Amino acid sequence: MTAAESTTHDELKIPEGRTDRLILKPLELADAAQIQQLFPRWEIVRYLANRVPWPYPPDGALQFCREAALPEMERGEAWHWTLRRITEPETIIGLIGLTRGEDENRGFWLDPQWQRQGLMSEACVWVNDFYFDVLGFERMRVSKAAANLVSRHISEKQGMHLVSVGEKDYVCGRLKSEIWEITADEWRAWKESHSETDFI
Ligand SMILES: CC(C)(COP(=O)(O)OP(=O)(O)OC[C@H]1O[C@@H](n2cnc3c(N)ncnc32)[C@H](O)[C@@H]1OP(=O)(O)O)[C@@H](O)C(=O)NCCC(=O)NCCS
Repeated sequence: MTAAESTTHDELKIPEGRTDRLILKPLELADAAQIQQLFPRWEIVRYLANRVPWPYPPDGALQFCREAALPEMERGEAWHWTLRRITEPETIIGLIGLTRGEDENRGFWLDPQWQRQGLMSEACVWVNDFYFDVLGFERMRVSKAAANLVSRHISEKQGMHLVSVGEKDYVCGRLKSEIWEITADEWRAWKESHSETDFI
């Protein structure tokens, strides 16, 4: 039975992922210290949903891991990975996560010094495969601020389409928001019709 079919705790052990340049390592409590160093920056948080506390408390990452992300993973409701470069596997450079639910199935952020090199696009390909092929979900929806052009661009170039617009509260305030969607069949067709060089 896949996670998508299960309504109870899902026994799947979350695997480590690999792409050309990245290791996706399942989140652990020990990651909180590095996340705390990296995450609380305006350029990372401004377009995230305002459930992210801001100013970010000194134990914000610990709380996120201990109270939210890890219990969700235990319950089979979410799957979070830290991102590391293969060439420096001890150093966290970002996070990507999948969540069961209606409109917010994937979220991500990356250390600004590693942005704009196609790394998150690369991580998304691995994570989408996991979501559709291993977890067995039929539809992925992601929510984002319309002003978040970079995130929007990743959705667009990887075959998602816009399904609705609204307003949402972000760390930077209330903004126009969008929901983008792709089905399992559309994702597989997108991959078929693109070569690996399009994945970054
Ligand atoms: C969103 C984020 C993870 C992207 O990471 P990244 O590794 O830089 O993304 P990539 O390099 O894989 O892809 C970015 C794409 O956006 C494009 N892009 C960059 N600036 C852009 C802009 N101003 N307008 C439109 N597209 C833009 C890039 O050219 C690239 O597309 P390409 O591969 O076709 O050239 C990173 O910007 C981030 O951490 N932002 C803060 C957190 C956040 O907003 N998370 C998402 C919440 S929905």
